Amino acid sequence: MSATYGKYSLTPQDVPAIHTDHRTIQTALPVPESIPILEKLLKYEPPSMSGQPPILWDRAEGYNVYDPYGNRWIDWSSCVLVSNVGHAHPKIVERVESLVERRQLSCYVFPHRERAEFVEKLIEVAPDGLEKVFLLTTGSEAVECAIKLSRTWGLNQSPEKKVIVSFGGGFHGRTLGSQLAGGIAPLKTWIGGTDITFIQVPFPDGYFNPDTSFELFTKTLSESGIQPEQVAGVISESYLGIGPDFFPVEYAQQLRAWCDQHQVVLTFDEVQAGFGRTGKLFAFEHYDVVPDLIVCGKAISSSLPLSAVIGRSDILSTYPPGSMTSTHSGSPLPVAAGLASLEALFEENMIAHAESMEAVLTQGLAPLVEAYDECDWMACKGLVAGLRIVKPGTQEPNSELATQINQACLHRGLLMFAPVGLGGGCVKIAPPLMTPQEVLEEGIEVLTEAFKEILG
Ligand SMILES: Cc1ncc(COP(=O)(O)O)c(C=O)c1O
Repeated sequence: MSATYGKYSLTPQDVPAIHTDHRTIQTALPVPESIPILEKLLKYEPPSMSGQPPILWDRAEGYNVYDPYGNRWIDWSSCVLVSNVGHAHPKIVERVESLVERRQLSCYVFPHRERAEFVEKLIEVAPDGLEKVFLLTTGSEAVECAIKLSRTWGLNQSPEKKVIVSFGGGFHGRTLGSQLAGGIAPLKTWIGGTDITFIQVPFPDGYFNPDTSFELFTKTLSESGIQPEQVAGVISESYLGIGPDFFPVEYAQQLRAWCDQHQVVLTFDEVQAGFGRTGKLFAFEHYDVVPDLIVCGKAISSSLPLSAVIGRSDILSTYPPGSMTSTHSGSPLPVAAGLASLEALFEENMIAHAESMEAVLTQGLAPLVEAYDECDWMACKGLVAGLRIVKPGTQEPNSELATQINQACLHRGLLMFAPVGLGGGCVKIAPPLMTPQEVLEEGIEVLTEAFKEILG
């Protein structure tokens, strides 16, 4: 028997039983019967797939995740910020089932009704001036497409205009282009070198980088020998997922103005931030700016794999018929899920709910920062929050402690994905946006108990 599943022990541990209206824990964890299945995964998959806590998902509904052994967690993962409208929302299930009944599973990029309906809806809710949408499957794929469009746009102006500027600490996916744009150095060593047409500037987070002025952006470019005329595109997450870290509003506005001045395509990567997560449909709305391209993924469907590049018509019209497609572009089932997810998000006022829950989450987490030197920093916007767990008196991430906290919550029926961030020290909180206040408060109590158990 393998002793571990990633960072998590595979030795079943007796944990106190829990029965509340929203949580049930009634077995040892990991569940002994699940171990052979976990071992099969360890045997046949690469180790990269064993990064999450070893519970066996059987079904998920609303804000709950269930295993097949009678355990039930309050979900604070949203499947890594996918299930914004809640797991298996009835509208999504119904729409997807109706396509399955109709036998409409896949149709390449041949036209279909749902795709027409969905792209129209997306443009309706997107900011004015963004008039076209290209559907893809994964976030990385959409990032690659934004890079390609920015670069083509630049090269059509001048053969020198091909540099893509992005931000230190940014995450855009794991494919080559998205990692060239990514700003987390240890994830990029496999590339085997740097590419002079991709450069990262410091993100103005005010924590690791105290200089939050826009001058640092232009200074970094000029110190690297890059002229604005060489820049084709700037891409950034609307907030850095490793935090969440937000731009100062003034910085984002200066960035927008700089891009306009130098005919640079500005892309906000909303793969994680979009579809209501921060209390706005898109997180860049907090800055009162509109990018030229928006990259979407994850919660665009709240479920099935779907991504999109939404943007200016002139930029998205660069490639002629048949030359910018993907086999599953706008695949029927994910598109049906996307349509239903958008309906649920708006009809059930989930964006406003996420906005109003920010105060509850902030007030619940702030005492942890006050009480524990190991919890150095907290940020929260809408229903996304992060706690940085450090070695006291430093900014050095304490991934071991963050994992202990994550596991103590798991044992009490509160599910989070494994800690994220530089050095794995960030406990990230991302409940489905439909989570009622009382359930959110129950989660905060559980997290507080976990801190007490471990740190006293
Ligand atoms: C901001 C951001 N961009 C892009 C991606 C890549 O998306 P995918 O994993 O669907 O390729 C992610 C995934 O976590 C992300 O958080």
